[in-house]
Amino acid sequence: MRVLVAGGAGFIGRHLCRELIHAGHRVVCVDNFSLGTRAGIEPLMSVKAFGLYEADITDRERLEQIFEVEEPEYIFQMAANSDIRASAANPDVEYRNTYSTTYELLNCMRKYHVKNLFFASTSAVYGDKRGVVLDENTPDLSPISYYGAAKLGCEALVSAYSYMNDIHSLVFRFPNVIGPGLTHGVIFDFIQKLGINPSRLEILGNGRQTKPYIFIEDLTDAILRFMITPASGVALYNVGVSGETSVTAIADMLCEEMGLTDVVYQYTGGEGGWRGDVPRFCYSADKIHKAGWSARYTSDEAVRKTIRGVLGERNVCL
Ligand SMILES: NC(=O)c1ccc[n+]([C@@H]2O[C@H](COP(=O)([O-])OP(=O)(O)OC[C@H]3O[C@@H](n4cnc5c(N)ncnc54)[C@H](O)[C@@H]3O)[C@@H](O)[C@H]2O)c1
Repeated sequence: MRVLVAGGAGFIGRHLCRELIHAGHRVVCVDNFSLGTRAGIEPLMSVKAFGLYEADITDRERLEQIFEVEEPEYIFQMAANSDIRASAANPDVEYRNTYSTTYELLNCMRKYHVKNLFFASTSAVYGDKRGVVLDENTPDLSPISYYGAAKLGCEALVSAYSYMNDIHSLVFRFPNVIGPGLTHGVIFDFIQKLGINPSRLEILGNGRQTKPYIFIEDLTDAILRFMITPASGVALYNVGVSGETSVTAIADMLCEEMGLTDVVYQYTGGEGGWRGDVPRFCYSADKIHKAGWSARYTSDEAVRKTIRGVLGERNVCL
């Protein structure tokens, strides 16, 4: 198939582009490099089945040109703001890069009769629901971050556009996604900080924030597995893993892997790492398990594998 990956130069997008090419698809990546980098997708540039457009997805005229030239059959919407601190300071970032990118893609799909969509959603749409095992039917979705709110708005758009235009949509709510080539998140931050000062580690919050982490290979495996069975209307899945990992446990694993024995942890305090951070959540993956998929790695294994991968490769992106 001819597929278009919006935000394909980002952390997950790069891995996804590579796997889609391996699966035999022709892949066009559209990215404005606001967060992703050209260097990150450099290894794909020589591949015949790969094409790149540096473009802002909110630029309607430009996006329409790309749809006209490339005639995509399947759209993967991975473009969003992943810099939560930037949007805490300025919510416009979420409106533009998370919500409006989805809106513009859906409008192009409507105009050019593209019928297949994958949408990257997030656990952040649930909000802070401590003590509840979150499944796809959990009511009262009340995000506590601008990011979660923008993603929930996108899910609503996907629902309406799918119904109005007979689009088959696959919506995955990801937990934290990690793996080699990480560009953000707690493991990335800790490695940066310990690189600067290996005797002291600042940990945002009280370190007891506990969440599921999925390894990137598991995520792309699930995406590719489900893309071949067209959803009828909107198919929504939590992509869950077994277990959760605390922030302090991540710090411990990292210090162990780096051979650092006397690092002093300095907690900034508070339950969440920052305002809008959901300190604990627990996913039910029953629905996706029943549909025949489960993750290969537990949350702790994903963290360990990622630390080893990132430490081993440092600057390797793909
Ligand atoms: N990484 C995670 O843990 C996680 C968890 C839940 C959901 N998600 C979702 O998965 C998707 C990919 O996440 P990621 O971690 O790879 O993030 P990322 O920031 O690495 O990738 C997002 C990409 O979108 C691009 N982009 C942003 N605004 C754009 C615009 N206006 N026009 C063109 N390109 C634009 C960025 O340059 C970047 O390359 C996102 O939608 C994110 O919300 C990620």
